[in-house]
Amino acid sequence: MNTKIAASLLSADILHLGNELERIRTAGVDWLHYDVMDGWFVPNMAFGLPELQAIAKQTDLFIDVHLMIQNPQLYIHNFAKSGADLITFHLESLSDPFTVVQTIREYNKKAGIALKPRTPAKALLPFLDEIDLILVMTVEPGFGGQRYMHEMTAKISEIRNMIQGRDIKIEIDGGIESATAPEALAAGADILVSGSWLFRQKDMKQAVDSLRK
Ligand code: DX5
Ligand code: ZN
Repeated sequence: MNTKIAASLLSADILHLGNELERIRTAGVDWLHYDVMDGWFVPNMAFGLPELQAIAKQTDLFIDVHLMIQNPQLYIHNFAKSGADLITFHLESLSDPFTVVQTIREYNKKAGIALKPRTPAKALLPFLDEIDLILVMTVEPGFGGQRYMHEMTAKISEIRNMIQGRDIKIEIDGGIESATAPEALAAGADILVSGSWLFRQKDMKQAVDSLRK
């Protein structure tokens, strides 16, 4: 119904980004999920500022920046100025979450907090008045192409109950495909990120439609 689909750029054909943006748009994808990795918070590196600036000039899609970096506070300014619409950082990172959210708000951007699989849902309790979105990682962050951790489904339900009556969205990231989406949606997900599975599909529009069901 109101499910949104976010395409994770990590699995796009980097040499043909312009074509990929067009492919995503015509497939009816709602958001562009932009992963940022610093080789410290996660054992991998991905996308920085120049790519984001170029992409933001080229697309009208809502840009959902997922910061997997150890010190998000240092970079909020740069990402906000480079075209992010939503900035999500990890609760397990080193910065003070209240300060990070406040900085995101100074740029009038949406603010989200992400949780690694082993971080309990209740760790979010102090921040529920501050945020627009909770990103539930259903794989260990750092790499595309991993399997959905079914034990995270209960955590999605727990968060759905925890935020009852609040205007907070739940986004799910990791291992989402047509076989796993229904489980995450039934538990209360609003936004599904899909990377390796989605970009592998010949008919991306049909794939997007199948995720929404
Ligand atoms: C992983 C990233 C994800 C990744 C998802 O750390 O945050 O956004 O691209 O990819 P799939 O859909 O392949 O699990
Ligand atoms: Zn991500």
